[in-house]
Amino acid sequence: MNLRFVSLTILLSPLFTLSASYNFLSANSINDRSYLSNKTVLITGPTSGLGLQVVKDLASLPTQNKPFKVILLARSESKAISTSEILKNVDIKTEIIVGDLSSPNQVFRMAEETKNLVNSIDVLIINAGMFSTATEREVQSDGLEKHFALNYLHQTILITQLLPLLTSPSSSRVCIMGSYTTLEFAKGKLDFSTLHSKEGKSMGGPGSSLPSAHVYSHAKLAQHMWAKHASKVMPKGVTINVACPGNVPGTNLDTWSELRSKIPRFLMPGVNWLLASRTVEVGVQPMMFIMGSSYMTSKTGTFTDWSWKKKSLQYFEPKPIEEYHNGEVAESVADPQQCSRLYDETEALMERFKEVPVAV
Ligand SMILES: *[C@@H]1O[C@H](CO)[C@@H](O)[C@H](O)[C@H]1NC(C)=O
Repeated sequence: MNLRFVSLTILLSPLFTLSASYNFLSANSINDRSYLSNKTVLITGPTSGLGLQVVKDLASLPTQNKPFKVILLARSESKAISTSEILKNVDIKTEIIVGDLSSPNQVFRMAEETKNLVNSIDVLIINAGMFSTATEREVQSDGLEKHFALNYLHQTILITQLLPLLTSPSSSRVCIMGSYTTLEFAKGKLDFSTLHSKEGKSMGGPGSSLPSAHVYSHAKLAQHMWAKHASKVMPKGVTINVACPGNVPGTNLDTWSELRSKIPRFLMPGVNWLLASRTVEVGVQPMMFIMGSSYMTSKTGTFTDWSWKKKSLQYFEPKPIEEYHNGEVAESVADPQQCSRLYDETEALMERFKEVPVAV
């Protein structure tokens, strides 16, 4: 399969504007989940979509690779309880922490509750996210733009607050659900002046007129940039890596629900073909790989992008976070000064929310 792809690449190479080198992973590396054996895992947004599928995949691991405990951070207690049943049924222990991950203040509180429940975390999965169908940017009552608050800030607060738990084992993995839209829509460039404000672009540019395409992918880009800088300053033993699921319209992100409701059912196969849509089962595989494969031991600051223009996964070796499988580079992620500026500005912003007492 590798050879066929290589020869195809050579045949088609005049059509490519960029020539990328393709290295493929071995089947052993792709399917290995041994790192998860008897580990403590924390996941945000586990009750639906990709998060729920990650939980299902964890529950169906062979006995010797099953985690010891999974901590679920979710907004809905009843959904979290039914999700936890999937794990309990196969003798994986669970803990549930309820809260709104779009509220920085509540994320601080959830981190404190986590510290009261466990002494260490081996795998921290940042998965919760939203993709609004609003055509204008929306800000929360705390003044933060919604995608920035949920998709980005819950990541930075949880990782920094849970660092003592991540450094307790000899190694631990932070795994982030990233996105190719950082390149397709946000064009790899962060606009510091509209980071979390009401003002600024909302729709994507040509080729992505989806409502909120820009503001969604911009928050994703911030996630990638923060992870890039964090990978350099994290204590030894804590790795941080990003995985991209590709296009997975089966999730309940608002944008996908709306798309499904607007397009006549008989046209959906055609749309799915155009989007190279993947099922959730396929979409979580890059994440399962960075969580579980021993190939990822000691690797940090990488992006596992198994293509997004193909329905099936292309098992490329992970690249640095700023780089995509096709060789294109996100300018802002590749710039250490921009990444460290974002990291510092985020630290200051988080401090502000830490001060505010939780409203009851
Ligand atoms: C699995 O982890 C738990 C909790 O850390 C520990 O008590 C137990 O001994 C471990 N089991 C094995 C087989 O290593």
